[in-house]
Amino acid sequence: MHRSFLTYRGFLFLKVAGLAGILAVALYMGHAPMDAPNGGTWLGYGLGTVSVFLIFWLAWFGVRKRRYSGVKPLRGWLSAHVYLGSALLVLATLHTGFQFGWNVHTLAYGLMLLVIASGIFGTVAYARLPRLVADNRGRRTLEAMVAEISSLDREARQAAMALDDKVNAMVFAASEKLQLGGSLWRILSGREPACRTSACIAHLESLPTKGGIGPEEGAILGTLVRLLYRKRELLHRARLDLRYQALLDIWLHIHIPATVLLIVALVAHVVAVFFFW
Ligand code: HEM
Ligand code: HEM
Repeated sequence: MHRSFLTYRGFLFLKVAGLAGILAVALYMGHAPMDAPNGGTWLGYGLGTVSVFLIFWLAWFGVRKRRYSGVKPLRGWLSAHVYLGSALLVLATLHTGFQFGWNVHTLAYGLMLLVIASGIFGTVAYARLPRLVADNRGRRTLEAMVAEISSLDREARQAAMALDDKVNAMVFAASEKLQLGGSLWRILSGREPACRTSACIAHLESLPTKGGIGPEEGAILGTLVRLLYRKRELLHRARLDLRYQALLDIWLHIHIPATVLLIVALVAHVVAVFFFW
């Protein structure tokens, strides 16, 4: 469902939204109010009313979504949601007649922009990320990666026991704590600047290659480096996986609360224009 909603029925809702936008622009250019264009002309009222209904309908999607257990009907809803929601950029903007100020009306407009921007982010995320997630995971799950990391940790600790104290301590420190997750920013970055496994590898790579190491020790060192490379790669993939999942999720934490605030601000806007204008 994640990608196909955009092309639903040969872009039906993109066409509907495009037509609505073109019609609104044509009416706006054709109408000549006595004042500057604004929300209070016949066209202003018309576009405002259409926008408000559209916004309530878009918000209704949250309720609708939870009612369906099947996937098919939602595809059409989501397609309409995305395209008609974007059409608001034209309809609501022309409603305002480009009259903005520090007031509740412009607050409603700003919140609408925030909802639309987060929605666009979500749509791009839904279209692009599932493929990146699949490529990054290969056939593994995140749990399988974590399990493999801890078994690599065990082997690395074993190997490090035959090496000097510093290496031993660094490998132990790297295996002691799984450096995955953390703060939201850390997860979104997909990186760990203080990665102990990378520090271990850097230390091992800085050791002099010749002299002071017997062949047996050299072989163990080689094994240890290989184990740590593999662990570092898995850690990198696991961090990317968490990053993608966070990106797939985070925008809804803006989209939904901003929708609620938008509805409150819109009610205030409409009440204000009817009672105080
Ligand atoms: C039932 C729906 C709506 C009605 C009846 C309505 C009514 C009005 C009226 C009468 C004005 C003119 C006020 C004036 O001339 O100063 C206005 C302006 C405005 N409306 Fe609406 N509106 C509606 C929906 C919306 C929506 C959906 C938005 C955006 C999310 C919006 C945002 C604005 C803004 C930003 C202005 C300009 C305010 C200013 O002059 O500073 N309105 N609206
Ligand atoms: C003012 C306009 C909009 C409002 C009020 C609105 C509101 C909502 C609500 C309430 C949901 C349900 C979220 C949930 O309960 O999980 C939703 C979902 C969604 N919205 Fe919007 N939306 C608007 C515009 C847009 C736009 C313009 C886009 C994209 C261009 C968009 C993309 C999405 C997507 C992709 C979902 C699906 C989330 C999911 O099913 O996981 N929205 N929207």
